[in-house]
Parts: sequence; structure tokens; C-alpha cells
Amino acid sequence: MSPQRQQQIREGKSKILYSTDTPHQIIQFFKDDATAFNALKKGTIKNKGPINNKVSSALFQYLERNGISTHFISQLSEREMLVKKLEIIPVEVVVRNKAAGSICKRLAIEKGQPFHPALVEFFYKSDALGDPLISETHILHFKWANSKELSTMVEKSLQVNELLTAVFKDIGLELIDFKLEFGRDSQGQVVLADEFTADGCRLWDLKTQEPMDKDRFRQDLGNVDEAYFEVSQRLTHYFEAKQ
Ligand code: TMP
Ligand code: ASP
Repeated sequence: MSPQRQQQIREGKSKILYSTDTPHQIIQFFKDDATAFNALKKGTIKNKGPINNKVSSALFQYLERNGISTHFISQLSEREMLVKKLEIIPVEVVVRNKAAGSICKRLAIEKGQPFHPALVEFFYKSDALGDPLISETHILHFKWANSKELSTMVEKSLQVNELLTAVFKDIGLELIDFKLEFGRDSQGQVVLADEFTADGCRLWDLKTQEPMDKDRFRQDLGNVDEAYFEVSQRLTHYFEAKQ
């Protein structure tokens, strides 16, 4: 019998976490809710929950096949993903291949400027503080992660960048930047957590240069539902063709 939802553990901006009848396993329930600018802007994106569950399940399975440990166990239903229960490290790792978003404002950099090698930034995961930019020394000083864990997070993030840049390129999309979260499993190993979806990355269409991600929602560009659906369709066809 498939694991059942029990108690709600916490409700986030785009997902709800539930305990299950199995220790060390929890369920991520994907909502259609969308927020931006630390939840100053709120809305919904049609069918985003099922789309993000499908996209993240496909990408995490792909990453697992390529040597990246993730919390993914299985996709249970349209909106539910069974994952390993982790102790979340309160650090968001952002990898940037080209300038967009906050770095353009922060450092007055022109949008689209390439970064070779990719730039890695850290943000402290705190809604109350608006996820401030932090440095490696903050992470070590406040013991959010030790130096071995931090090296693993950076190494894995750069591997994810290599792997997913290639996947997205094959479906006509450029991976501009993305945010990853990590946690410790019951054995203390650092594994990739949360999700990889158009909510947490920037994808530009290679032909039109149009954003195909949450920037459409952030900047009121229209066709938000359509962009999420299009990305998921291209990925589905890509992985079906590979089987
Ligand atoms: P930024 O340009 O706002 O710093 O974001 C960089 C990338 O990371 C972008 O694809 C959005 C993603 N991101 C999140 O999804 N959540 C966050 O809290 C942060 C800081 C970034
Ligand atoms: N997810 C964050 C928020 O809710 C930041 C963003 O995606 O713009 O505000």
C-alpha cells in the first residue's frame, strides 16, 4: 500500500509537507500558489502543482541516475511526492550562468552578461529577513553547515548546473540561473532537497530569448500558465524519447 498523508508538518509558499506512517519519509504536496518578492506579490498559476511535481520528479530522477543524491523517493500522485525526511540546511545555493534578477540590481550588472565559470552565491533561508545574501564565512561561523558539507553543496550544485544546462539546451532552453536547497538524511549525508522547477530557476527560450519561468509571473509578462506547461511538455517528450 502506498504511504498515506498523516499530520501536516508545515505549509510553505508553494508546498505543504506531511508526515507519513513511515519514519524518515514525508510527503511534499505541490500547490498552485505562487509568490514573488518575499511574498509581497501573491497569486496562483493554473495547474502549477501537478506540473512542478512532474518536472521535479523527472529532473530529480535524472540527477539520481547521474550520481547526485536527492531526497526523491517516488511520485505518489498528481500533487504528491514521497521524499526522505531531512534536516534542512538553511542556506540557498544560487548558481548563475548569466546575469539576471537580484545580481543585476545589487551590482549594477547588465542583464544577460555571461559568467564563466558559473557564479555561486549563498542566501540565508529566512522569510522574516527576506533571504539575505551571505558568505561562506557566515555559514561556517553560525554552523549552518560545516566546511565538508559546504564543499559538497557547492560541488553538487555545479554538477547539477552541468547536467541540467545540457538537458535544457536539448529542449531549446537556456538555464540562466537556479536555486538549490540541501539537507542531511538520517545517516548525516548531504542530499539535494526541495524541488527543481520553473519556480526556482530562470529559463530563456533559445530561439526567442523569452523567459519561460517565474519571471513571467514576477514581471506580469502574461502567458504564465502556458510557459510552465510548455517547459513540462518539452521535458516530458525529452525523457520519453530517451527511454
Ligand atoms: P535572484 O535573482 O532573485 O537572486 O534569484 C536567482 C535564482 O534563484 C532565480 O532563478 C530564482 C531563484 N531563487 C528562488 O527560487 N528563491 C529564492 O529565495 C532565491 C533567493 C532565489
Ligand atoms: N519565492 C520567493 C518569494 O516568494 C522569491 C521569488 O521567487 O521571487 O517571494
